Amino acid sequence: MNRVSFALPHLIGKEALYLNECLLSGQWGGDASFTKRCHAHLDSMYDASTLLCHSCTAALEMAAMLLRLQPGDEVIMPSFTFVSTANAVVLRGAVPVFVDIRSDTLNIDETLIEAAITPRTKAIFVVHYAGVGCEMEPILAIASRHGLAVVEDAAQAYRASWKGRALGTFGQLATLSFHQTKNIVSGEGGALIVNDLALVERAQIIREKGTNRSQFIRGEVAKYDWQDMGSSFLPSDLVAAVLLAQLEYAEELTRHRLSLWHAYDAIFRAASHNGLRLPEIPADATHNGHIYHVRFTNLERREEARLKLVAEGIGGVTHYVPLHSSPAGERYGRTGSSMAITDETADTLLRLPLHGGLTEADIARVASRVLEFAR
Ligand SMILES: Cc1ncc(COP(=O)(O)O)c(C=O)c1O
Repeated sequence: MNRVSFALPHLIGKEALYLNECLLSGQWGGDASFTKRCHAHLDSMYDASTLLCHSCTAALEMAAMLLRLQPGDEVIMPSFTFVSTANAVVLRGAVPVFVDIRSDTLNIDETLIEAAITPRTKAIFVVHYAGVGCEMEPILAIASRHGLAVVEDAAQAYRASWKGRALGTFGQLATLSFHQTKNIVSGEGGALIVNDLALVERAQIIREKGTNRSQFIRGEVAKYDWQDMGSSFLPSDLVAAVLLAQLEYAEELTRHRLSLWHAYDAIFRAASHNGLRLPEIPADATHNGHIYHVRFTNLERREEARLKLVAEGIGGVTHYVPLHSSPAGERYGRTGSSMAITDETADTLLRLPLHGGLTEADIARVASRVLEFAR
């Protein structure tokens, strides 16, 4: 039987062409022509100032610096997320305060946020899990009532929207990932979306080792020097060359991925009483087909099914290990609510193979095995 990989980057074809063009140009450093073309593409898509980074992790670290988080400050976020959401905050000496998720979308439960706010709270970091939008209206209302910044960790949310508005345009800042497991990829890669124009200049400085090199390149200053704290967050133009090829075909890639997502969904929904909880997408959300997940009734059933799939060469994988009960989460963070849904989700959720190289036959095979193991 063929192996069915969990994730694989989907080649468009133009990656090699652009990469070769970049190699021959001799301009392999950051912010050369391919990065500029990616910026133009993303700027117009988000109607914001975007900055390519070498990862979403880097973009989150930039966001934490831009918000001037200080030791002892608190940031509210879900525990059901990747470590980078919390690390960015911890690296500034600030404290992640973990709040539970909604059991439908698996996004931060907006009704629990206000009770977790203290005089030390500075920001809310939300995560759009599986490219399904958080409840941004109540979250923005809470933030504005309490004078808090909002950062959207949109690592999984490229080309997804909420009530017709692109995810990544709601917070002062948002971050994207182009890691090879995502829908649009450059190996490692990410971007910071700066929606608050007052933060643009400092964002450029932080990204360029704390210097005003971006202004120098634009001819606005005669020399560049050390202006602020910063690091090297920009990717090589070689990475941007691969990314540009993918961005140019992002609409088609997303459409194809969504068709595979819907193929899974149709099979599972047709099999009634299948013992599985399927993704629940609110009417206001337009997602991007990033993840197809099913939830089993308990950890034992999930693990039994996962191991059987793996034994057949099918890559079914779990997702986040909750941060609040991880060694570093216990050391650096604290909980701001019960974590019942987070713990239950981590135990029961299984992500199924999903990438552009899958066929409808692959989907049918994976789904039928999952249904059999769930019964
Ligand atoms: C929610 C979330 N944030 C951040 C990241 C980190 O992204 P990157 O690998 O681009 O640093 C991930 C990675 O999967 C993620 O799922």
